[in-house]
Amino acid sequence: MSKPAVLKLDDKEFEFPTIEGVEDEKAVDFRTLRSVSGYVSFDEGYGNTGSCQSEITFIDGEIGILRYRGIPIEQLAEKSDFLESSYMILYGDLPNQTQLDAFRASIRDNTPVSPLMGAALKGFPSDSPPMGMLGAMLSALSCYSPELATNDRAKDLENFDQAASTAIAQTATAAALAYRVTKGLEGNQPDPSLSFHDNFLHMMFSEPGKAYEAIPEVSRALDLMLLLHADHEQNCSTSTVRMVASGGANLFASVAAGVGALWGPAHGGANMAVIKMLEEIKASGDDGSKFIEEAKSGKRLMGFGHRVYKNFDPRAKIIGQACDNLLNKLDIDDPCLDIARHLEQAALADDYFISRNLYPNVDFYSGIVLRALGIPADMFTVMFAIGRMPGWVANWREIAMHPKMKINRPRQIYQGPALRDYVPLESRT
Ligand code: SDX
Repeated sequence: MSKPAVLKLDDKEFEFPTIEGVEDEKAVDFRTLRSVSGYVSFDEGYGNTGSCQSEITFIDGEIGILRYRGIPIEQLAEKSDFLESSYMILYGDLPNQTQLDAFRASIRDNTPVSPLMGAALKGFPSDSPPMGMLGAMLSALSCYSPELATNDRAKDLENFDQAASTAIAQTATAAALAYRVTKGLEGNQPDPSLSFHDNFLHMMFSEPGKAYEAIPEVSRALDLMLLLHADHEQNCSTSTVRMVASGGANLFASVAAGVGALWGPAHGGANMAVIKMLEEIKASGDDGSKFIEEAKSGKRLMGFGHRVYKNFDPRAKIIGQACDNLLNKLDIDDPCLDIARHLEQAALADDYFISRNLYPNVDFYSGIVLRALGIPADMFTVMFAIGRMPGWVANWREIAMHPKMKINRPRQIYQGPALRDYVPLESRT
């Protein structure tokens, strides 16, 4: 146990206990700060603030470590698959054969969505953004399965297994249906004989009389992509899920909020922004050299930089390798990959990026892989959401099971107008 922290304020000294994590992370426990000192801490963007103590995922941004429940992402990428890792993220340990079979069966059985959801999706315009449709449908799960979304914490925890399988499975089904709506196509019924990732590709791409034919390299690449996105500590969207859950809201309402948070280009929207950036560079005839200079004076090199990783994002290394393997196997010559490689090499040798610890993150190559899988760019962030769902669900459960769960309610420092009186309309200029 490290020594207490001493804070000197207005000639008074205040002692605060410290907290140490399993991996020697340290925190000052400020939970009494305002009551004993009248001060609040200020940390805009929360870059120096721990919002919770969690047992799910560990990241060390300085040396590029990512572990789900203690197991390194490199081992999981090589030896596990999305559903097995999802089980571990949800329940804490790798499943035995019985548990894994039961979990896979539960995902399979919960893959079909309510026919009402299919009808609701058809009510959206064909040019609707798939992320908007997905967020609406995840929230609507509380309408199609109200027994899993009572906002009675004990009941919602009692039904957690079913709710978790429903959220993980039906995010993929709703995503495929949303895609079909944007293409003006009828939806495909799930095929229970297929694996999770092959069923998704079937629901996306099968046509009447021409079922989607799984290609092993494509199936493995998709499963790997989902596994690598499955959780990532207290990122913007996961923190949003916890914020909503802390008020006692059900799982579906909480993960629907996570979709909204993930949508932005600084977060889950970056994979789409990377492809858009690469396409613009290609169209301009630049090999990336000109863009690198622009990225040093205002433009953002999308897919580079990270709030936590000040070294390589370990997922970027794994996805970068999978990208090479997949494009070679499929004999795809994607000029955007050449430009991405050029940007990476140039940035990693440039002091602007080095001095700011800007390295490729998970989004830098994921768009190229997704495009090679035949996934359209406006579905890239949806793919991120399908992958991240187990992490969001596990974080909801961690909040719901917290013995002293408190609603998250940050403070602020007010900088608006000082006290003043109401001015009648006739007296205003
Ligand atoms: C994800 O949190 C997570 O875990 C997220 C995620 C997950 O799995 O959930 O890992 C997924 O969101 C990955 C990040 C995807 N976003 C992008 O790739 C968008 C491009 N990256 C940036 O917008 C940025 O790097 C952030 C938002 C990711 C991180 O920003 P920070 O840490 O707040 O850094 P900053 O904005 O304070 O910038 C510090 C400096 C600035 O320059 P100076 O003011 O010091 O001169 O670095 C510069 C920035 O201008 N900078 C960049 C840059 N990112 C930061 N310059 C050029 N290109 C970039 N990408």
